Amino acid sequence: MIDVSSPGPEDSPLQVAKLATVGQQWAMEDPSVGEVVVAEEQIRRRVEDLGARITADYQGRPPLLVGVLKGAFVFMSDLARAIQLPVEFDFMAVASYGSSTRTSGVVRIVKDLDIDLAGRHVLLVEDIIDSGLTLAFLLRNLAARHPASLAVCALLAKELGSPVPELAYVGFHIPRDFVIGYGLDVGERYRNLGCVRRYGSAEVGP
Ligand code: IMP
Ligand code: MG
Repeated sequence: MIDVSSPGPEDSPLQVAKLATVGQQWAMEDPSVGEVVVAEEQIRRRVEDLGARITADYQGRPPLLVGVLKGAFVFMSDLARAIQLPVEFDFMAVASYGSSTRTSGVVRIVKDLDIDLAGRHVLLVEDIIDSGLTLAFLLRNLAARHPASLAVCALLAKELGSPVPELAYVGFHIPRDFVIGYGLDVGERYRNLGCVRRYGSAEVGP
């Protein structure tokens, strides 16, 4: 039988740090994988922070977390466990027409929610807000379902053109470079990187 009650030498902080680096070697074989934009430890602390703020803000009205697949699944999983309230979960998936690295703003719902939003306190969980076009579509769509309140928590936000009042919680503001990791992909890969890294040459787009 394996005894998991006491930490072994492999759990020492040094060993954990080493494992974190070793765990990313597979990704570093791709020359397009660039430098760390947000480190694993920074994400962990910030998610704890956001969870504490959401816990305080939603006292007496636990939110329904709505995750936008696929990118938000890693963030939502950690965020939900940092919220000390009986939250509920639902997911939707959207596809946007456009290139693989730029959204056109024309968005189609690929998987809709199972839960009725009427009267619910909805907290939309997004991986990243780039142009904000996907978010604008989602907010219009969800608001039409008459939730009691609607707010957004995004792990990352690039420089937004105009402020979005519903964007109440943002993990990190980052430059406009294309990034991967912690749920974010390029061609469905790298979602399982623990940190956020730059991908490709700086400034992708038309
Ligand atoms: P927006 O409509 O331009 O705000 O784009 C939002 C969506 O595009 C996000 O939910 C992501 O799925 C995707 N996206 C935008 N920027 C990045 C990035 O740097 N890496 C990976 N996906 C991104
Ligand atoms: Mg997304």
